[in-house]
Amino acid sequence: MLTGNALRQSFLDYFVARHHTQVRSSSLVPENDPTLLFTNAGMVQFKSVFLGQERLPFTRATSAQKCLRISGKHNDLEAVGRDTYHHTFFEMLGNWSFGDYYKEEAIGWAWDLLTREWRLPKERLWTTVYLDDDEAERLWIKVAGIPTERILRFGQKENFWEMGETGPCGPCSEIHLDRGLEACDRKMVKGHRCLVNGDCARFIELWNLVFIQYNRNDQGSLQDLPAKHVDTGMGMERITAVLQGVLSNYDIDYMRDLIRTTEDLAAKKYGESAEQDLSFGVIADHARAVAFLIADGVVPSNEGRGYVLRRLLRRAARHGRPIGPPLQRRLGRRLDFEAPRAHHRLCLGAG
Ligand code: GLY
Repeated sequence: MLTGNALRQSFLDYFVARHHTQVRSSSLVPENDPTLLFTNAGMVQFKSVFLGQERLPFTRATSAQKCLRISGKHNDLEAVGRDTYHHTFFEMLGNWSFGDYYKEEAIGWAWDLLTREWRLPKERLWTTVYLDDDEAERLWIKVAGIPTERILRFGQKENFWEMGETGPCGPCSEIHLDRGLEACDRKMVKGHRCLVNGDCARFIELWNLVFIQYNRNDQGSLQDLPAKHVDTGMGMERITAVLQGVLSNYDIDYMRDLIRTTEDLAAKKYGESAEQDLSFGVIADHARAVAFLIADGVVPSNEGRGYVLRRLLRRAARHGRPIGPPLQRRLGRRLDFEAPRAHHRLCLGAG
C-alpha cells in the first residue's frame, strides 16, 4: 500500500523532476497578511509574487502546505463530522507557475500524474471548466483525450477561485473522480441524483487547477495582473483515500493512527456505530488542527486565532464525552503515540 507519506513524496518528486523548486510549507498563520486569519491554500505564501510585488529566484514551485479552512471564504468546519472528506486542517499538494507555464502544462501534468503515475481509471475522471473557458475545454480534449460529455461548465461559485474577499484569483478547472454508486451516501433520499458538484460522496473533487490572472481589489473589482500564473491544489487526504482504496478519509493510514490513539484513550472501538465513528473522526480532525496551530504559535484565547483554537478544543471534547470515560481516569496507561508522531514529523519537514 502507498502510505500517505510516500504519496506526498511522489507528488513532490513528480514536479521536482519537471523543474519545480520544492518549497517548505509556510506557517498556518499568514505572514504580513491582515486579510486572512489562517493559511487556507498552498498559494498564500506566494500572494505577493502573483501580485508582481516580489520575485523569487525560480518560476516554478511545488509544496505540501498545511492549511486550515475554518474562517472567511473557505470554511469547512460544519462539514467535519457530516461527511468523510472535508477537514478543518489538511495538507494541500500543489504546483505553481509564476508567469512561466500556463494551462496546457498544468492540465497535461495533472492528467499524467493521476492516470499514468498513479493509475487512476481515465473513464472515471470528469473535469469542469469556467463558463467561458473554451481554451481549457479544448486542452482537456487535446492533452487528456477526455470526451466532451465528461467536461462540464460551471459558473463563479464552482469554477472561479478566490483566496478571500481580496487578492489574486481566476477561473479554474477541476478534476473529479466518480467513485461509483457504492460511494453515494444519499441513496435513500427521494429524488437524489449523483452529480459532479452535487451533494453526495460519489463524485469527489480531487484537484483544482487555478489560472490566476486577476487581483480582486478592496472595492471588489477585478484588475488584470501583470502576468498569468498557475496555482493548483489537491487535498492530500482525499487522494490518499482514493489510492489506498478506502471511501472515508478517516480510513487512511495516518488518520487511523490518530483514531487508534482515541480508541486507546476511550476503550472503545472504531467501526462499532456510525454515530461513534463520526466522533472519532471529528476528534482526529480537530486534534490535528489544534496540534499544528499550537506548533505555529497560536494559544487559546478569547479572540481571533486563539478563539478559533478554543472552539476546536471544545468541539473535540464534546465529541469525546459520549465515546469514553473521562481522559483523566485513563492517563496512567502507556499510549502508543509513535505512529502519529512519525507522520507529523514528516509532514512538518515536507516541502
Ligand atoms: N488554490 C487552489 C485551491 O485551493 O483550490
